[in-house]
Amino acid sequence: MKRRRMIYEGKAKILYEGPEPGTLITYFKDDATKKATIEGKGVLNNRISEYLMTQLNAIGVPTHFVKRLNMREQLVKEVEIIPLEVIVRNIAAGSLSKRLGIEEGTALPRSIIEYCYKNDALHDPLVSEEHITAFGWATPQDLDDIVNLTIRINDFLSGLFLGAGIKLVDFKVEFGRLWENDYMRIVLADEISPDSCRLWDVTTNEKMDKDRFRRDLGGVVEAYSEVASCRNRCKARPEVRFWSNEGTRFCYAEKRRSRSAGKSHRQRAARARLCWRRRCAPGQGDRYRTGGAR
Ligand code: C5P
Repeated sequence: MKRRRMIYEGKAKILYEGPEPGTLITYFKDDATKKATIEGKGVLNNRISEYLMTQLNAIGVPTHFVKRLNMREQLVKEVEIIPLEVIVRNIAAGSLSKRLGIEEGTALPRSIIEYCYKNDALHDPLVSEEHITAFGWATPQDLDDIVNLTIRINDFLSGLFLGAGIKLVDFKVEFGRLWENDYMRIVLADEISPDSCRLWDVTTNEKMDKDRFRRDLGGVVEAYSEVASCRNRCKARPEVRFWSNEGTRFCYAEKRRSRSAGKSHRQRAARARLCWRRRCAPGQGDRYRTGGAR
């Protein structure tokens, strides 16, 4: 058997050389930190990221995603990663609350975009647009594209999640340069998952993201499963999959109130498990089990 070449290993993912030039394979690990793992996290993040990237592609946001290969792997286009973490905040939480003394949960007067320089040794410091262009990490034109894409991503994902009873509190995205012949365009890269987003239950504000692990709250896999199941809730009502640049989140919220809306994420997780057991009942499996693992 041919051994594939590893390009890079991070905390949550491994990148391998892809089957063709210009492609890579992303392997999603279960690791939460260097020492701790959350069993099954990689499988769920692979699914969630696949779904979100596909939906974003469908509204015209260019991404590096090509296809999911199996439970833990995706085929992606090789891009030149811009060394920035782009953070969007809709509600105060995490480092913003600590840094500025704003109570967690305070709705921000407008969405805020922050940038961190990707550098482990320096602990990804917060930087300004001035630093980014002065040090050549991105050009002013790159930054314009990044901001425009980030605003669209935030608008679309806020609506998508709210329609499934989840608040998008904040998230981190990364971008890369994709070269096609002589042309370059900025595309969304990396992943979007509960590892890189803060997601709260819309009624109870229960955390459904990596903060459950960071703050030792337990129920990490249940919360990630619940986020993964929002994919099914959205699929169940294709007729309301429309969007506009303005007010997307409200369109989604109004049109896609699911049967489980208003219930806590634990109740919805129980319902998702029940539905799953019904689907797996004898005679039902073939209808639902298409492709890879669920
Ligand atoms: O920690 P902080 O509040 O700055 O995080 C803001 C958002 O960015 C959170 O959703 C967090 O999960 C994400 N983030 C990330 N990777 C980092 C830093 C932050 O995914 N290195």
